[in-house]
Amino acid sequence: MDNKRIIIAIDGHSSCGKSTFAKAIAARLGYIFIDTGAMYRAVTHYALEHGAINMGIVDEERVEAMLQSIEISFRFNPERGASDIYVNGDLVEGKIRTIEVSNCVSAVSSIAAVRSKLVAMQQQMGRYGGVVMDGRDIGTVVFPNAELKIYMTADPMVRAERRFKELTAKGDSVTLQEVYDNVVSRDKADMSRAISPLRKADDAIVLDNSAMSVEEQMAWFDEQYRRVVEA
Ligand code: DC
Repeated sequence: MDNKRIIIAIDGHSSCGKSTFAKAIAARLGYIFIDTGAMYRAVTHYALEHGAINMGIVDEERVEAMLQSIEISFRFNPERGASDIYVNGDLVEGKIRTIEVSNCVSAVSSIAAVRSKLVAMQQQMGRYGGVVMDGRDIGTVVFPNAELKIYMTADPMVRAERRFKELTAKGDSVTLQEVYDNVVSRDKADMSRAISPLRKADDAIVLDNSAMSVEEQMAWFDEQYRRVVEA
């Protein structure tokens, strides 16, 4: 394949396998994979740990004030074949995908100051190309000129079942209904927030993977990638 190092933006609904797909693409192309959802989750986790979220209510002013004491970094973990996320030097990768963080992350990610800090970091990380970045606003806000934009979606119950399996495999005690409710409410929150709502960029191509295996998705991707780099 060509050695032009492009930006690949992957946006879409929660729990539709964006990170798995993005990670596989990055490994195939030798690109850097950046999971921007992990960054919003890391800020949410920090806010929970430092008392800025009580009984599920996010104190926006406190979160905003906290931002200057939050330093996010990534370090490649060869065992996972992806980067782990750190906050102020502490490894938080294993702590940011709990249902507690999932339930508060939409509120935290709708705070303007949070978005501007994280978007600026993402633009820095991707400035030389050769990146696959997944999130909600990558093709619309972070890299509106990305050469290849993919908008992923899948049936909400299919997504809930996939996330439920992941959580229970890790030992989390959740019900399928709880996970389904979280998926549906995050879709709603992500698509209706005032700043950078989730929406398909006009030039993004849709991938509905409800009934597709990872191999089928990769074959689909190869075609799209070839079309872009050979253009
Ligand atoms: O991809 P994820 O489910 O781990 O993302 C967690 C939350 O972060 C998601 O509900 C919305 C928010 N998010 C965002 O607002 N913008 C991004 N670029 C990535 C995630």
